[in-house]
Amino acid sequence: MNNQKALPPHHSLVETADGSYTLFSEAFQEACHSTTGARAETILHYIEGTKVQENILKFSPLVILEVGFGLGVGFLTTLEKLPSDRRWHFVSLELDADLLEWFLKNHQDHYFLKNLQWKDNNILEAENDFIKLTILQGDARKTLPAYLKNHPLKWHAIYQDAFSPKKNPILWTKEWFSLLKDSSHEDVILSTYSASSSIRKSLHLTGWGVQKGERFGPKRTSTRAVLAKATDPEILLQLERSPAQALSDLHINEILLK
Ligand SMILES: C[S@@+](CC[C@H](N)C(=O)[O-])C[C@H]1O[C@@H](n2cnc3c(N)ncnc32)[C@H](O)[C@@H]1O
Repeated sequence: MNNQKALPPHHSLVETADGSYTLFSEAFQEACHSTTGARAETILHYIEGTKVQENILKFSPLVILEVGFGLGVGFLTTLEKLPSDRRWHFVSLELDADLLEWFLKNHQDHYFLKNLQWKDNNILEAENDFIKLTILQGDARKTLPAYLKNHPLKWHAIYQDAFSPKKNPILWTKEWFSLLKDSSHEDVILSTYSASSSIRKSLHLTGWGVQKGERFGPKRTSTRAVLAKATDPEILLQLERSPAQALSDLHINEILLK
């Protein structure tokens, strides 16, 4: 894993404090995970944060959406943590085709991932009797609505793991969270490492019930969001007092045009 020659273009490898690895993206000037631990963060925020281990006993298949496939830590950790005799469908969104080609090359001998192949121009897929993995390559703002037209899925769990709102604002807007809400099951749990007031406002204003998440590393808190409950009153008070603005596509276009 630490052979620099084998890395995807424009990325460098970073060892994190729990011994697992992440990638630093030159394009976004950010690492894919906290340096406190890529694996530990994934377990806390996504596996535990969205309760997939409990909910796979309720839903068949359990349908998971991951925003940002990255180097595949989210999928690989989910594969390790879910029981092998229950059905689940993991849909992930990834802009960078080189990252996906690198992932394919690195998992040619894996019992499940050796079957991962391009099904369409921009869809990578692998499936067995229990697990289905679908990766949509391209800008998630376009690939997800296009995919949903022919595959009307309802998410039980959402791993909202884009780069930070400052670096990757397009995946934290009200328009994005509305799309996620409209394609979610009523018992969905969305989980993310970010606790910024502007993303919490984007979630709240689009009908998500915003809840406090666990602390991890230097971050004191994180965010969970559901449709079954209203926003936590303490968070609502903080949001009302905060001058931060909810992110919207219009707002981002104004920033980009400046
Ligand atoms: C924080 S990393 C994801 C880490 C990943 N969940 C893992 O466990 O390895 C964010 C990913 O989002 C991708 N990304 C950024 N903008 C995107 C967009 N508009 N559409 C789809 N993917 C995007 C980046 O290329 C990057 O790989």
